[in-house]
Amino acid sequence: MRVPCRIVAEILALLAEKAKPGMTTLALNALAEQEAAKRRAVPAFKGYSGYPYALCCSPNNQVVHGMPNNQVLAEGDILSLDFGVIYGGFYGDAAVTLPVGRIAGHAQRLLQVTEESLHAAIAVTTPDHRLSDISSTVQGYVESRGFSVVREFVGHGIGRSLHESPQIPNFGPPGKGVRLKTGMVFAIEPMINEKKSAVSILDDGWTVITCDGGLSAHFEHTVAVTDQGPDILTKL
Ligand code: MF3
Ligand code: CO
Repeated sequence: MRVPCRIVAEILALLAEKAKPGMTTLALNALAEQEAAKRRAVPAFKGYSGYPYALCCSPNNQVVHGMPNNQVLAEGDILSLDFGVIYGGFYGDAAVTLPVGRIAGHAQRLLQVTEESLHAAIAVTTPDHRLSDISSTVQGYVESRGFSVVREFVGHGIGRSLHESPQIPNFGPPGKGVRLKTGMVFAIEPMINEKKSAVSILDDGWTVITCDGGLSAHFEHTVAVTDQGPDILTKL
């Protein structure tokens, strides 16, 4: 799994450099496809449940599963990029939310808190914890800082399939669910809203947006449980 995860990390880093004002998300999608092909990796999302693109691009009030299009990125936007590949029969999956040029202070704060909540959750992805410790860590971290957790979409096990059991909500009480064991691999992915947690889906059947129009951020890593602590496979 290190190979697909490293490929995902490399490609997301490349995309992050290109996500500047004037760029379109469709061009980012094309770049993701091209870079995956260069590495002999297969995009994991394209064709998954009929999703038509390699990349999910969710700007501003879009939460997840936004579709690449010809709209031009503007200074002050935030943009969530979610990408996965298959290589050698194994999956890697990761997401980042990027600032496009200079962004407002409240947007910056949302990105920072969401990314920190992911790292707080990764810190408890160890054999002395249970599954829901991941969930409760994200919720505690973000709610105590005034943000809200999306309920309808969750993290997941990952390996020979993109979505394996268990589901990993970003909310709930600690101390429940399976004991974490060395060798387990999880995609941990907080989706965090600036205002209220409620979301809805656009008529395209994919794009998830906040109901109140507030901003939303998404950070995701594929993480292995090891005896030496959590190993972030999608980190460069
Ligand atoms: N990272 C998301 C997930 O883990 C991406 C799925 S998008 C889809 O669920 F297009 F593949 F559905
Ligand atoms: Co995922």
